[in-house]
Amino acid sequence: MEHVTREARKLFEVLPREQLGFFPTPFYRLDNLSAELGVNLYIKRDDFTGMNLFGGNKIRKLEFLLGDARAKGCDHAVTYGATQSNHAMETVASCRKCGIKPILYLTAVVPPDDKDVRANLLLDKIMDAELHIVDIRPGETEEEAEARSFEMGAARAAELTAAGHPCYDIPMGGASVMGSVGFARGYLEFEDQLDAAGLHADYIFHATGTGGTMAGLAAGRKLCGSDTKIISVTVSRKDESYLHKVEDLANNVLKLLNSPLKVDWQKDLCMDTGYYAPGYEQPNEAASEAIRLLARTEGLFIDPVYTGKAFAGLLDYVRSGKIPAGSNVVFWHTGGATALFAEQSILGELY
Ligand SMILES: Cc1ncc(COP(=O)(O)O)c(C=O)c1O
Repeated sequence: MEHVTREARKLFEVLPREQLGFFPTPFYRLDNLSAELGVNLYIKRDDFTGMNLFGGNKIRKLEFLLGDARAKGCDHAVTYGATQSNHAMETVASCRKCGIKPILYLTAVVPPDDKDVRANLLLDKIMDAELHIVDIRPGETEEEAEARSFEMGAARAAELTAAGHPCYDIPMGGASVMGSVGFARGYLEFEDQLDAAGLHADYIFHATGTGGTMAGLAAGRKLCGSDTKIISVTVSRKDESYLHKVEDLANNVLKLLNSPLKVDWQKDLCMDTGYYAPGYEQPNEAASEAIRLLARTEGLFIDPVYTGKAFAGLLDYVRSGKIPAGSNVVFWHTGGATALFAEQSILGELY
């Protein structure tokens, strides 16, 4: 692995990057749950990326995104998400650390209560982000409201830039090439941990939303020449076009790293849409059971919107025998447990 990635490692080092997190994140075996499930279950703790208590996958992306923003002389950054977006909150925190003014356009998928502001939205307010809440209009879909938020954000960015305050536009979830490169680097970090432990990972499970994490992992896996199967559990409805988008993003990451390698959506990507229902930020019993199980066996917390659904997928694969007993299975914990303190309708039956 070392010789394969030496070039890539050098290339990561020349890209502009802000040091925001604490890496490598811990990687270890979950003994209690392994015994219960009959597989060797490991966890990659990206809920511990730092820089604050809440961590999560976005920090890996934001290191490169804000590095790029600084290199381009931006003093403002705008991004998007739902009102309880982990990405939006960690973008605000990262901007604050870098001295960049954060602006958010947040779609009210679950309308917030002004008198009882919770979880990530509360943190956004504490950090005093410039906040724009975009309500979903009657007859409008979530996607249409999001598209409006992108237009409003782009207009605000153009206005600031014209006034002499260059504003960096970060797509939802940080799912750009610059963001995903952070996850390719994360995959190399993970391979180093496997090497050090003398382990081969048969499967990785993780939650996928905007696809930036999935693209970065796929690019990193390619760079390492790994045959680990990555199962990306979706947190909302997706179709084949999503895989094309992720393939494109992964290949642009490889291109940025000057690699001739290519990710092929049919061979290298595997998404499972079987665990998100009824929808984004809408709980289901399998995710609730996954949250309770991990908390009660290992004292660990996952969330109802992302990681709970991904872990429910992992449990189903193991219990149904889709994964052979004794396999080495890694759950890549992408953070997000602030959702446990969000609006009641997001939570589900947790106890
Ligand atoms: C906790 C958590 N897990 C997973 C994801 C999915 O990551 P991505 O948007 O890169 O697909 C997100 C994205 O918002 C998240 O907040």
